[in-house]
This record gives sequence, C-alpha cells and structure tokens, in this order.
Amino acid sequence: MSLSQIARTLRESITLKLNQTAALLREKGEPVIHLGGGEPKSKTPIDAIVSCTAVLNSGDIKYTPADGIPALKKAILRYTEEHYGKAVRPENVIASCGAKQAIMAALHAILDPKDEVIFPVPYWVSYPEMVKLAGGVPVPVRAEDGSFHPLVREIADAMGSYTKAVILNSPNNPSGAMYSKEFVAELVELCAKRSIYLIMDDTYNRLVFDGRPPVNCYDYSSEEVDQSKLLVINCVSKMYAMTGFRIGWAVGSKELITAMAVIQGQQTSGPATPSQWAAVGALNGIQNSIDALRVTLENNRNILIDRLNAFPGIRVTSPQGAFYSFPDFSHYMADSQKLSEFLLNKVRVVTVPGREFGMEGHLRISFCGTVKEITDGIERIRWALDPTAPNELALGDRRLVRDWM
Ligand SMILES: Cc1ncc(COP(=O)(O)O)c(C=O)c1O
Repeated sequence: MSLSQIARTLRESITLKLNQTAALLREKGEPVIHLGGGEPKSKTPIDAIVSCTAVLNSGDIKYTPADGIPALKKAILRYTEEHYGKAVRPENVIASCGAKQAIMAALHAILDPKDEVIFPVPYWVSYPEMVKLAGGVPVPVRAEDGSFHPLVREIADAMGSYTKAVILNSPNNPSGAMYSKEFVAELVELCAKRSIYLIMDDTYNRLVFDGRPPVNCYDYSSEEVDQSKLLVINCVSKMYAMTGFRIGWAVGSKELITAMAVIQGQQTSGPATPSQWAAVGALNGIQNSIDALRVTLENNRNILIDRLNAFPGIRVTSPQGAFYSFPDFSHYMADSQKLSEFLLNKVRVVTVPGREFGMEGHLRISFCGTVKEITDGIERIRWALDPTAPNELALGDRRLVRDWM
C-alpha cells in the first residue's frame, strides 16, 4: 500500500472514535455512561424541521451556490448584526459543512507549507490535525503557570516569521474557560499589528453562564471587515443542538471568503441543501431553545462541579461556558489515556483523555447529558478511584466488587 504521508500520519478524531466505542458497547447491552460527548441532548428546533421538510417535500433538491443559499446568507447577516453588532455583506459570508469545514477551508486558503498556526493549550483536538492537513505546522502555546489561559505575551513570544494565524476558541473546548475582554482586545490588536489572521472559533459563544455576556471580538477591531484578517466562525451544531445537520459559517474579508468558497466548491460543492434550509429555519425561528439549553447546561455544570469538588484529590476549575469540564486527575494517574481506558473498562464511563487536548493528567468530562448520567457517572468514577468509597457499585443490573486494586 502506498498511502500519502498525510494519510499515514494524520490522527483519527478521538472524540468521534469514543462516540463509536460508546455506541458499540451500548449495542452489546453494556451500561455505558457517556461523559465524553460533544453534543447537547435536546431536539432540533421545530422551525428547523419545518423549513427542512418543506424543501424535502418539494422534491426540488439541487446543487446550491458553493458558499451557501442566499436565504442562509441573509439569516447569517442578520445573526451577525444582532449578536455582534456588525453589518456585513453576503460576500463576507460563507456557509460550510459545520464549523469544522469553515475552519478547514480557511486554513487551506491561507497556509503555505511550513506556515505556522498558533493556538492556546488546552485546544480542541482537531486544530493540530486540521493545520497539518492544510500543510501547516501547529504551534500550541502553553501558559507558564499551568492554567487554561496563556497570556497574550506568551502568544506573542511564539510568533515568528512563519506565523500565519492564531485560533482562539472561547468558551473553550475542552476547559469551558472563557478568555477575558482584555485578552481578546489585546490579541485582536496584536494580530492586526503583525498582519496575522485571527480565527475566532465562536462555536460555543451563545452558551455562556452566570449572566456573563459573550465576548465580541469586533468590539476591539477598528478595521473595516474587508481590510481585516479577523475571521469569525459559528455553527448551528451546538447552540441549536443540530450537530447532524453539519452547518457552520465564517464571516471575514471578501478576499478570504472568496478564496474559501473556491476551495469549498472543489471539495464538496457546498453544504447539503436540506441542511442549509434547516439552518435558515433555526436562525430565523423562535430562539427560546438556546436559552433553555443554556439554563439546562448551567444547572448541569453546577451539579457536576459540586460533585467534583467533593472528590478528594481532584482539582477543577468551574467552566464559564460550553459543556465541558477539564479536571486534573493526576493525583490518581498521570497518564490520562490509561486513566480514561481504566474508567471505561472498569466502570463503563466514557471520558476523553486530556492528552488529546494538549494537557496530560486531565480528563474532559462533558455535562451535556442528563443529570442522572452526570451524577451516576461521577459516582462510578469515584468508586473506581477512591479507596474510601463503598466497595460495591451498582452498574446497571450487575454489581461490581472492587477486585482489581
Ligand atoms: C471548538 C470547536 N470548534 C468547532 C467544532 C466543530 O463544529 P461542527 O460540528 O459545526 O463542525 C467543534 C465541535 O466539537 C468544537 O468543539
């Protein structure tokens, strides 16, 4: 077999793989609790379903412009105006197959071989592989103090002549941490001064807790959108619980968006037509599902963090948004891969190893499931790790006795 170097070296998405593992185990009747997931449980908003089925019922489902149907672009323009206070034109917008393809098309459009892309640690698992796929070099930047927030100075120190872009994801997957207004303001200024693209991955921007407003990068940019190297990424996947529709978008300069549209046109010819109409329905429809989801997630966060705080030996920072927590389990096991496997094998709880996000010793624990999944899942983890916990645990219809320690 003669596969390409990239095919031989690219790593599979661990989060997608864990979804498959959990599904396979469930099919076999195993009482799996999936705390590794990255999608809300709620249903697709009815306005999205109605809009999507209308086009399906018409039977007229054809190619669309590669950068999205006019109705979707219009809905995105309105969204950008309403949530960012920014008026942009259709030429500044591209709709893609999820936020993932929007980021991928952007990387293909800006990177030459050896160009570097900086992102803070911990980072979304896909950034390093996506940068490599586009021929670039990923440059993760770690905070000296071990926190989830590198300083702008630390990011500036990592910049060199090959630096083409910075990706910032806030609220963050996997930590749930948000970068402050001051941080975003300084980073926007730094990137503009050095003429470096700043890709703001705002996938979780509407899922922010404790009454905090989301940080709006445009508040700190004095440049016209067509002169700016700021690219803002969003999607319907998380805020509307529509991961399976695969619709995301990017807002940026006409020059960059046009290049991305050419690339996307050759890759996929654009996102699926029914999905685009579903996104139109979601964006133009009643918006209360986002608030309902945020409230549910905030409640889940509180329950999870209470449980984790009562867990001896674990250090956890309360997430400010998204639906992930990233506790430090190194007191129990330094190797997060082994720990995650151990928890899956022994108590059938799925977690994602911190190593995949650039931080050993941590596990990503999601709180987008039900309260019962969260409480039972943490109870099982505690039972597996804490020698002072009772020595029997109900696991579905079986009972496990701690016999391996
Ligand atoms: C930070 C971040 N960006 C982008 C995405 C991809 O979103 P989509 O499913 O719309 O491609 C995800 C999905 O998990 C994510 O966590």
